[in-house]
Amino acid sequence: MESATNSGTASPTPSVFSLSTTGSSEAASTPDTHRSMLFDDDVAGDPLDIAAGNSPFIMVVGGLGYIGSHTVLELLKEGYNVLIIDDLSNSYENVLDRIKALASEHFAAQGKAMPSLHFQHLDYRSPAMRSVLAGYSSYSVVHKPSMNRFPYSALQRTDSGIEMNDEADDRMVTRVSRITGVIHFAAYKSVEESIRMPLRYYSNNVCGLVDFLGLLEEYGIKNFVFSSSATVYGEMANCGVPLREELCVHHPETFQDHDGTERRMSPGVIGLTSPYGRSKFMCESILADLAVSDPSWSITALRYFNPVGCHESGILGEDPRQKPSNLIPVIATVLTGTKPVLDIFGTDWNTPDGTAVRDFIHVVDLARGHIAALAASAAGRVKAPFRAYNLGESMPGHAEGLGWPYSPTVADDT
Ligand SMILES: NC(=O)c1ccc[n+]([C@@H]2O[C@H](COP(=O)([O-])OP(=O)(O)OC[C@H]3O[C@@H](n4cnc5c(N)ncnc54)[C@H](O)[C@@H]3O)[C@@H](O)[C@H]2O)c1
Repeated sequence: MESATNSGTASPTPSVFSLSTTGSSEAASTPDTHRSMLFDDDVAGDPLDIAAGNSPFIMVVGGLGYIGSHTVLELLKEGYNVLIIDDLSNSYENVLDRIKALASEHFAAQGKAMPSLHFQHLDYRSPAMRSVLAGYSSYSVVHKPSMNRFPYSALQRTDSGIEMNDEADDRMVTRVSRITGVIHFAAYKSVEESIRMPLRYYSNNVCGLVDFLGLLEEYGIKNFVFSSSATVYGEMANCGVPLREELCVHHPETFQDHDGTERRMSPGVIGLTSPYGRSKFMCESILADLAVSDPSWSITALRYFNPVGCHESGILGEDPRQKPSNLIPVIATVLTGTKPVLDIFGTDWNTPDGTAVRDFIHVVDLARGHIAALAASAAGRVKAPFRAYNLGESMPGHAEGLGWPYSPTVADDT
């Protein structure tokens, strides 16, 4: 699926706009849609079978953050049990209470019991993650899928010579996890901070992911959804062309262009401008390589455009512990007087008002996109072991799309 592009990089000198709150409050809503455009519509209504005795869980790493918290709520509403891992480096524990309150209200209205919601206050790079995963797994004796080498260990010496012990060794002990899928949000995301502290970003976003994947592999957990970003398109995002997933690949790929011509893409991207952007590209490459080496993985990278909005109750939203850099929290700091003005970067783009055009997506749509991706993989509907999808609206948005009386764009576009 393709999505509209941002229309340019920020010009070096910000123009300063005072924020007026006189616009219509109705216009400020960013209503979410209710259908998955990417995956089959029926998949989101087809959750993993949580009634089947040993209670599967979905593990959401970074699940108390902005996008994670909305995703956890939607997962619960779809009937999934959820295990959240979060170190609270950019979120607050009270988000957990808010998710619980909203989910229990939802299930109370339906007269149904709420699925389980577990939380571990942990850095996902911590050695304690092994104990957490152990707690959700058991051992099981299974038949080996095939004998692809001579089974020496199945030979036994008897009085009449050496014989095959056909009872032995066609079985093995394996770990079976109740965690049937993982959604990974745990990353640092400030473009500006990543330039000042690249090692901090590579350590969490890249090294953390590598070790985590190794751990998941040990526990046989191979249905994985990764939070990527439209930033992986690099310079292409400023060319004013629709961004197709095939324009950024990690292995050579052939695809049909709009006019039917066949195009071959080589791996790589031009013009990544920050360690944050590079970290997302690197993570995607690592995931794509892993999928080639072991096609039993089902990995979906979701490339987000600009998530905005909040849960309709207003109880969940974007409430970062660190200095905000995304558009809406920055606007909130101006509205509350913490910041005097809103800096808008870019005035000379080829757009009606000269400001950048961006593709905004409602955070609840984004949350549902993750569930659709997980469920599609679990149902075997995603054929390739690694796939990337854009999650955007495909509709370029100026400020009017957000309902404010100004045209916003902020410096830090994650
Ligand atoms: N918000 C955006 O505009 C945007 C756009 C594109 C991609 N993304 C990606 O989406 C993901 C989620 O973004 P968000 O806006 O919800 O960010 P967020 O900071 O609100 O959420 C991330 C959560 O992960 C937690 N976390 C970070 N490192 C951790 C670690 N080592 N162990 C455990 N928890 C950890 C944080 O405490 C936070 O709760 C990120 O990977 C981000 O790069 C975000």
